[in-house]
Amino acid sequence: MKKEFWDHIKKFSEKLAKEDDLFIVSHHDADGITACAIMVDLLRKLGKDVEFTILKQLDSNSIGKILDINKTMIFTDMGSGHLSLLKEHGIEDFYVIDHHPPESEYERQVNPHFYGYDGGIDVSGSGMAYFVAKSLEHRENAHIALVGAVGDMQDSKGKLKSLNRIILDDGVEQGTLKVRNDLRLFGRQSRPLTQMLTYASDPFLPGLTGRRDNCIAFLQNLGIDLKRNNGELKTYIDLTFEERKKLASAVYIHLLDCNVPEFVVQGMIGEVYTLLNEKKGTELRDGKEFATLLNACGRQDKSEIGVQVCLGDRGEYWTEARGILQKHRKMLREGIEYLAEVGTESMENFNYFDSKGLITETIVGVVAGMAYGARIIPPNKPILAFADDRDDPGFLKVSARANWGLIRGGIHLGNAMREGSKAVGGDGGGHDIAAGARVPKEKKDDFLRGVDEIFNKQLRG
Ligand code: C5P
Ligand code: C5P
Ligand code: ZN
Repeated sequence: MKKEFWDHIKKFSEKLAKEDDLFIVSHHDADGITACAIMVDLLRKLGKDVEFTILKQLDSNSIGKILDINKTMIFTDMGSGHLSLLKEHGIEDFYVIDHHPPESEYERQVNPHFYGYDGGIDVSGSGMAYFVAKSLEHRENAHIALVGAVGDMQDSKGKLKSLNRIILDDGVEQGTLKVRNDLRLFGRQSRPLTQMLTYASDPFLPGLTGRRDNCIAFLQNLGIDLKRNNGELKTYIDLTFEERKKLASAVYIHLLDCNVPEFVVQGMIGEVYTLLNEKKGTELRDGKEFATLLNACGRQDKSEIGVQVCLGDRGEYWTEARGILQKHRKMLREGIEYLAEVGTESMENFNYFDSKGLITETIVGVVAGMAYGARIIPPNKPILAFADDRDDPGFLKVSARANWGLIRGGIHLGNAMREGSKAVGGDGGGHDIAAGARVPKEKKDDFLRGVDEIFNKQLRG
């Protein structure tokens, strides 16, 4: 890490460690939940009382929920994009640990953008929380920070780099993490093999995804036994090294045969992260699955449960988290099916769909992202997904998703959401590749036209 950045973090942490009455406010996805847990753990170890709350986002509406808290606040995985919003509402005593594009400089803020790093891929919010902890001699949550990075899809190019790499190396050195190159299909630890293939969405496996019988035949053709000796269904991690190699090459060749673009096929092989202190066969053992479990908690309004699991609970909360994951998966499946049925509408520079109250606002972005992976939505344009704003019937929630190809072409969703929503009396922001906003319902068409123009400008550089 650049020395100036590390020095800045150390100074920030020393100041923070002198505070007493602290309250953490974090974001409801896997990165926000892990960032919160890392800070709670750190502050408790420093002998402090600490409370926390998790918000689905920080905006002019949700800020009402934290106005009465008369404590020093620490915003994690949020805040950098909302400094003026906080000040407008009279919140002045706060720290920010974030990786979103910052609005401006602020003394008590750590954010990688000021030091030439990209918060979209080099480090996540939980990673920043980890570095704060590390600068105070607490390195024990590297694996939790890794889960946050994976939750924010910072491994989506097949490997973690830059500041994320430091975190990974710390975990490997401590023996809490293992990294290897392997097939990156979801469910390596916890899903039976046939399910892993049947539900594969990133990448979509033509002829296999959604077609259980074909998946069974595919595996049997390779001579892979679907059951363990005790009759239970095998998961990927039950396979021998030879079987794994056989399966990976078969899937690889199958995709090339189906004319799936080579970069998509290659993206399927890459780093996978194992949390070595977790029980084999559980979601917590695999970085991606752990992140999905936390995302499920956050997006089903049960973030505290996710925080408790990160803090080590393997009893009541852990059981509850697994139940929430089942429900979450069902909602995502239904969302994808709905989208496949109604399809998208297109503007010149993006596609969009309105879930008309059938997909809740907290998961509509996840559905949009997955539908991209499953090629239900064409990947040549960004996608905007609308849902009803849960807290304000006059507003729509918007989730926007893009991909690396579009980013290279000039697209920056966070800027587009911020400017586009502001122009119609809403608010928004986020990363280049994933962002969101809320806009007044009656301004939807103006918003669509405005965003189209903004993308047009972005693409023309
Ligand atoms: O918490 P934060 O605002 O950083 O979260 C970023 C969001 O963007 C996450 O919900 C993550 O899943 C999403 N994302 C995405 N595709 C990417 C990168 C991030 O959908 N390539
Ligand atoms: O809800 P969703 O996962 O689509 O949000 C993606 C990202 O967009 C969030 O992680 C956040 O950074 C940003 N966002 C925002 N303002 C909103 C909604 C989302 O800045 N009103
Ligand atoms: Zn984040």
